[in-house]
Amino acid sequence: MCEWGELLSEISACTKCVLHRSRRNPVPGEGSRSAQVMFIGEAPGAREDETGRPFIGAAGQLLTQLMESIKLQRDSTYITNVVKCRPPSNRDPSDDEIAACLPYLIKQIMLVKPQLIVTLGRHSSRTIYELAGLKWVSMAKQHGKPIEVSIASIRTTVIATYHPASALYNPNLRKLIEDDFRNAIARVISREKESKRTLLDYL
Ligand code: URA
Ligand code: SF4
Repeated sequence: MCEWGELLSEISACTKCVLHRSRRNPVPGEGSRSAQVMFIGEAPGAREDETGRPFIGAAGQLLTQLMESIKLQRDSTYITNVVKCRPPSNRDPSDDEIAACLPYLIKQIMLVKPQLIVTLGRHSSRTIYELAGLKWVSMAKQHGKPIEVSIASIRTTVIATYHPASALYNPNLRKLIEDDFRNAIARVISREKESKRTLLDYL
């Protein structure tokens, strides 16, 4: 079986934390396996648990709209969560649950090798910052700032932003997330141009 196949069957049979008891379906993630941009949310909600697909409820619809507003096709990205099973009553995932599920996320990052990782919300942002050996302080201080990191030997850029669920009824926050997305994409595009220029210099 290929590495993706192995990973997906491991997640669907996983019992490494208590969340497996109450889940209906694990939600591994979806999208392009060669995506340049990876979005990482917190945990599946009710709709996601019913269908096994990430970000398809109200927050997911807003996420899709926010992507479209910066001309990013949802299908061209890879979307996943820090924990793959729904916490009961949508409570926050515990540190133990996050730690138990983290190897799957690391494997996904190694397989997709995204140029940009957008972390949605503080749980996801803190997890990825700490994985990259950085200190997480707060969303207010750290959102929208692209940082170059190395995660499991993959060099990539991480940008933290607010969770789209928090922006559902808050147009100001929605604008902030959109600006953060724009900022992140601009950074990746300018780096691509930069690397092409450097390449040309050598020709
Ligand atoms: N919120 C998340 O963090 N992830 C989802 O998949 C859906 C809602
Ligand atoms: Fe396994 Fe992650 Fe689901 Fe816990 S949340 S049971 S670690 S797949």
